[in-house]
Amino acid sequence: MKVSGTVRPPGDKSISHRALLLGAVARGRSEFQGLLAGEDVQSTARVVRQIGAAVGAVRDGTLVRVTGRPWHRPRSVLHCGNSGTTARLLLGLLAGQPIPARLTGDRSLRTRPMRRVTEPLRAMGADIKEGPQDALPLTIRGGHLRPLTYTTPISSAQVKSALLFAGLAGNVAVTVREPYRSRDHTERLFLHLGLGLHARDGGVTYEPPTAPPRIAGFDLVIPGDASSAAFLVAAAALAEGGELLIENVGVNPTRTGFLVVLERMGVSVERLNLRDSGGEPVADLVARPAPAIRGTEVTAAEIPSLVDEVPVLAVLASRAGGGETVFRDVGELRVKESNRLELVAANLRALGGRAEAQGNDLFVSGGASSPRGRVETAGDHRLAMAFAVLGTLPGANVRLSERRSVAISYPGFFADLKRIGRPARHRD
Ligand code: S3P
Repeated sequence: MKVSGTVRPPGDKSISHRALLLGAVARGRSEFQGLLAGEDVQSTARVVRQIGAAVGAVRDGTLVRVTGRPWHRPRSVLHCGNSGTTARLLLGLLAGQPIPARLTGDRSLRTRPMRRVTEPLRAMGADIKEGPQDALPLTIRGGHLRPLTYTTPISSAQVKSALLFAGLAGNVAVTVREPYRSRDHTERLFLHLGLGLHARDGGVTYEPPTAPPRIAGFDLVIPGDASSAAFLVAAAALAEGGELLIENVGVNPTRTGFLVVLERMGVSVERLNLRDSGGEPVADLVARPAPAIRGTEVTAAEIPSLVDEVPVLAVLASRAGGGETVFRDVGELRVKESNRLELVAANLRALGGRAEAQGNDLFVSGGASSPRGRVETAGDHRLAMAFAVLGTLPGANVRLSERRSVAISYPGFFADLKRIGRPARHRD
């Protein structure tokens, strides 16, 4: 196909969750522009409404008003849908609230680990009752918290944010250290709101004020999601001609590791109009077809900055003319919306490629044959989008087990993919 035109990815999912949750604990009215209208953010909107916040309809392209009020005991279980971010960040805020609440989620979310947040929250003093599995559903009753200094064994922005949120809600100091720095949207929002936050000794510390802080309602313009833009960049890289302008993309360096890796793979993406929005860097991206894709090694230190882009990077790696690509230490992909480590490899093989998970590393070989076969997405939005991009190659026949999961993070994905591409004209 040939790519052309201009496209705007939907609002950043991570920032949208954080804006709604902080808007729900703020006193007074907040206004958010550019909030993602995908299903995961609808889940956050739903649960904060159940606890007392007034949240207007979350629709694409509209201003969303949130009025925070003191949280009350929810009348029914808080259903977090498919969203790990909703569940884990909400647990952090609930840890500081003297109300009982029960959390659950869909089939995928109910298999995802929660002890990574419940253990440190318990150490702070939250009362949490879980079943025998490390999973939802669980019941939390927060209240009086103790300060915490914690080193997480995994680099996870959800764990870090849950603990910083607990510090905020419980008005206690929290320091979090992690092996490699994960996305820092929570830290940037805290600073944007004038909350006491310091990066120190390879960790981040929330220092509460002497009197409990009263966060006033705030306004935020949310940039487009770099993780959604990554699929458009990949579609342009695989195209046979043209150029694509992707407008209004968040380019926070803790999120754009994929651009660094793409550069090594022979795919360069230009950044134009670098600007700031609510403490986050934003740019327009120009993506073009890659003359040749090369294999590379993606190090463990790089993974947190591209953790959601491994499926689409693996898809591109499967088109490398020269060599193998290895993603080091991506065991965390086993506990995402699906077992992405095994499914990326299995789906690439199902399409005629060579890929395998060895321990916690993912190996992908490059190849030239047209991908043909059926892809099992397991209801995982990022698998559906990554393999849909592979399906745009000439001669490809990629059948997805389902397409509706894209509504989690990018409801307009298939419409955008269609709009930016048109069949390339061949001489023969
Ligand atoms: C997210 C953090 C990452 C990421 C997820 C969103 C966030 O998860 O995969 O899509 O908004 O904090 P982990 O914290 O589990 O790495």
